[in-house]
Amino acid sequence: MSDENKSIHEFDLKLIYEYYSTIERQGPGSPEVTIKALSFIDNLTNESKIADIGCGTGGQTMVIANHTSGHITGIDLSPIFIDLFNINSQKLNLQNRVNGIVGSMDKLPFQNEELDLIWSEGAIYNIGFERGINEWYKFLKKGAFLAVSEVSWFTEERPVEIDEFWNNEYPEIDTISNKVTQMEKTGYIPIATFVLPENCWTEHFYAPQVSAQEKFLQKYVGNKTAEELVENQRHEAELYDKYKEFYGYVFI
Ligand SMILES: C[S@@+](CC[C@H](N)C(=O)[O-])C[C@H]1O[C@@H](n2cnc3c(N)ncnc32)[C@H](O)[C@@H]1O
Repeated sequence: MSDENKSIHEFDLKLIYEYYSTIERQGPGSPEVTIKALSFIDNLTNESKIADIGCGTGGQTMVIANHTSGHITGIDLSPIFIDLFNINSQKLNLQNRVNGIVGSMDKLPFQNEELDLIWSEGAIYNIGFERGINEWYKFLKKGAFLAVSEVSWFTEERPVEIDEFWNNEYPEIDTISNKVTQMEKTGYIPIATFVLPENCWTEHFYAPQVSAQEKFLQKYVGNKTAEELVENQRHEAELYDKYKEFYGYVFI
């Protein structure tokens, strides 16, 4: 199908995937934080089955792979990200136990009680935290683990500008304690919750975007959609700088 026949939505998505495929991470995080979250998980063997949902190009997946010995399936809606994921896995000689597949987190291709660990960094918001933790529960074996990162409020009150921004972007944003309560109600036993340090946003997420944005704008000079996409990302980075004491990503 040619671009002329595509809906605006499809074209937007293609541009968004292209933009993010030029940077190592597609959301806030860092190798140190992935390793820290992994340190709370103690049931893994080389027989373990792990799923990384909304894996993107696999920045965090390759870190998990280097610190575990089981089989990892990365799942993402974007074929562009999954191609890069599998290239990354091959480059690191992990292709025998780390595979990326295109799929959606609301239709996971697993059996009930098949998985030892479900991982998801900065991605569960796509179907909503509460729905995600509920629907994924059945895929976990008894005693298995779920590790997700989720954007959360640090305070009960915050300035209107940031409150409106996030309620518009992600109405399910909530305080850490409310997220933990949702997990308990679903049947999970919370074992650790920690806030991602600031450098997960600045150094690992927003900084690499600065040069990516320049190149992207040069390639799509005059393209309104591309310009708006970059403008949105810059605005989000400015808001983070201004309001970081009120929200952030939390590993739960
Ligand atoms: C903010 S990015 C995070 C990517 C990666 N986990 C990271 O931290 O770098 C969110 C990811 O979710 C993926 N995604 C969006 N909707 C999805 C869905 N329904 N099923 C699977 N993946 C989805 C996007 O393609 C994107 O890769």
